[in-house]
This record gives sequence, structure tokens and C-alpha cells, in this order.
Amino acid sequence: MLRNSKESFGLISILFHWIIGLIFIGQIALGYLMVRVSDFTLQFNLYQWHKSFGFLVLGLSTLRLLWKSANLRPRDPATLSPLERVAAHGAHVILYLSLFVVPLTGWAIASSSPLRIPTFMFDLVVIPSLPIAISDSAEAFWSASHAWLAYLSAAVAMLHILAALHHHFWKRDTILLRMLAPRAVRNGGRHAT
Ligand code: HEM
Ligand code: HEM
Repeated sequence: MLRNSKESFGLISILFHWIIGLIFIGQIALGYLMVRVSDFTLQFNLYQWHKSFGFLVLGLSTLRLLWKSANLRPRDPATLSPLERVAAHGAHVILYLSLFVVPLTGWAIASSSPLRIPTFMFDLVVIPSLPIAISDSAEAFWSASHAWLAYLSAAVAMLHILAALHHHFWKRDTILLRMLAPRAVRNGGRHAT
């Protein structure tokens, strides 16, 4: 129930997937909006929330990788073609990398900014700066890298979501069900209509 089986993801992997996935999508929307807001106080507050949730993604993703390394990966259903297997696994690797690289480049913006605004996580913990160069040009570099990587990972996440919906509603296999409930899938194959 808690751990993955050969057929399905367990409860812990499922919770990690949906909690991190939803925060990640929320972070893309929040990041896009906050850089375009004109009210200074609102913008400052949105930046603090964005940084806090970004660190939450980084922390949860570290725990998720540790959990993944201690668990089986459910085997691919027989309905997947070799090309789909490669595409799905490639997308998962890119998404796992994004969960680390996007918040880390965000952290690099905060650390390289000459404004030196301290970073708090939910007003509770002070996050130290990364030991990197502090200058306007370094901040501009990390800002551009963060934005590009965030939007590229959003594009891969969009393809990933469309693929999951395609499998569920078009191919009617168990790919989405096994990421929704631990016991939804026992013998693989196709789900009932
Ligand atoms: C899941 C993690 C994160 C995602 C998906 C994400 C996504 C984004 C996006 C989409 C933008 C808007 C880019 C633009 O249109 O210019 C943005 C901006 C920004 N993010 Fe993040 N971010 C994450 C984590 C973080 C973290 C951990 C920090 C800092 C500790 C951070 C700091 C910033 C800053 C300072 C900006 C504004 C950059 C500017 O003013 O040009 N982000 N982020
Ligand atoms: C909200 C819509 C989403 C849906 C419907 C969805 C659906 C799924 C499904 C069905 C799987 C299982 C695939 C399999 O059995 O091989 C999966 C795995 C995965 N998803 Fe999502 N996903 C969503 C959002 C996201 C987001 C936003 C991210 C990351 C930014 C993400 C990252 C991953 C990763 C890394 C895996 C591989 C898990 C593993 O094998 O350890 N997903 N997703």
C-alpha cells in the first residue's frame, strides 16, 4: 500500500507526484504573474511566496528521489510501444532534473543579486546564499537561465500531461490509474469502460 509494487505506484510515491506536480505548475503561473505585476508591495510579497514554494519543491524532490531509490519502479504495461517507452522515460528524466535545476537557478538569482534581499522559507527559516559571484550581470544571467529552464520544463510537463490523458481516454490503459490509487491496478492491461 505505501510502497510501490510491480503493477502500481504506492501511496507515498503517488502523494509525492501530485503534491510536487501541483506546486510546480503553480510556481510557473506565480513566476509568470509576479514579474509582470506593477504594484511594488504585492510584487515583493509574491516573490517571497515564490521563493518559499520553490524551496519546498527542492526539499520534497530530494525526499522523493531517496524514496524512489528505495522502491521498485512499476513495470511498463505491455500496451506501451518501444517508442512510447523511450519518450516516457526521457520525459520523466527531464522532469526529475527540472525539479532540481529550476529551483537551484532561482536560488542563484537570489544569491547573485546586488540587492542582497535575505531569503526566508515561509518566514520560518533563513536560507543562506549560494557561494557565487554577486553582480548585475550574474543576476541577469541566472534570471534568464531560470526563466528559460522553467518554461522549457513547463512545455515538457504539458506533453507529459497530454500523454497521460491520451493513455487514459484514448488507449484506455492503466497508466494514469496506477498514479492515482495504490490498488487501482492489480493485473495490468486495460481498464473497464
Ligand atoms: C519549482 C520551482 C520554480 C519554478 C517552476 C519557477 C518558475 C519561475 C518562472 C516561470 C518565473 C518567471 C520568469 C519570467 O517570465 O521572467 C520565475 C521568476 C523568478 N524566480 Fe522562480 N521558479 C522556481 C523556484 C524559484 C526559487 C527557489 C527561487 C529563489 C530562491 C526563485 C526565484 C525567482 C526570481 C527571483 C524570479 C524573478 C526573476 C526576474 O525578476 O527576472 N524561483 N520563476
Ligand atoms: C497535473 C497533471 C499530471 C498528470 C495527469 C501526470 C500523470 C502522470 C502519470 C500517469 C505518471 C505515471 C507514468 C508511468 O506509469 O510510467 C506520471 C509519472 C511522473 N510524473 Fe506526472 N503527471 C502530471 C504532472 C506532473 C508534473 C507537473 C511533473 C513534474 C514537474 C510530473 C513528473 C512526473 C515524473 C518525474 C514521473 C515519473 C515517476 C517515476 O517513475 O518515479 N508530473 N505522471
